[in-house]
Amino acid sequence: MSISLPTPNIAHLTEEDYEHVYEPAEDSFILLDALELDAQLIRGDKPTICVEIGSGSGIVSTFLSQLVGPSSSLVLSTDINRYACEVTLRTAKANQISLNPILCHLLDPLSSRLRNKVDILVFNPPYVPTGMTELLDTQHQKDIGGAWAGGQDGMIVTDIILDQLPDLLTPSGKMYLVTVVQNKPLEIIRKMEAKGLICKEIIKRRAGRELLSVLRISRELHQ
Ligand SMILES: C[S@@+](CC[C@H](N)C(=O)[O-])C[C@H]1O[C@@H](n2cnc3c(N)ncnc32)[C@H](O)[C@@H]1O
Repeated sequence: MSISLPTPNIAHLTEEDYEHVYEPAEDSFILLDALELDAQLIRGDKPTICVEIGSGSGIVSTFLSQLVGPSSSLVLSTDINRYACEVTLRTAKANQISLNPILCHLLDPLSSRLRNKVDILVFNPPYVPTGMTELLDTQHQKDIGGAWAGGQDGMIVTDIILDQLPDLLTPSGKMYLVTVVQNKPLEIIRKMEAKGLICKEIIKRRAGRELLSVLRISRELHQ
């Protein structure tokens, strides 16, 4: 039986907010759909620590918090963009939940404390292939450009986390990662399998010119 959850309310966000923060789009919604598809599996594991990297508007962190139950699970979110952290806070409040967004690069201040402790990790990364200069500039500027510039194959930021992943997940832990076809999802699957993890494309969809998918990466085998 599939579980249906409402999309978080983001009506409080304005055009001006979206000059600074990524406006939820098809990539955000495919991630919500993937989490909804796996809702029973996720709830069944009774996750205690869930983390979203790059929370942007906060729509995904809010959805995840509602999915796992805000009272039984800690949902952490990070972003390099300070506006994104502020907006995530506002989105949480508008949806009557509590989030404490952390302004940082990926999981930098947390990763040693989160060793083998992450039950659910979610990332809709900057995945658009760009030159290295654009990637470095946008990561340095920490503004809206950092929402999409992903360097070679759109994978430079994502690869940093994929390399850390075996040290982060609990035995039943899972990561949900948004990709586009230019990220070479089959290569990601092979790379994660070489690290002893199981990686499956659980949802795939064309949105305009983008062929989007969500990969579930776990230690355990699931359907
Ligand atoms: C494609 S947007 C996704 C936003 C939101 N999660 C969603 O799905 O609508 C990518 C987000 O990652 C953030 N980001 C980019 N590089 C990052 C980094 N090195 N560390 C943390 N967040 C980063 C961006 O600021 C942006 O908010």
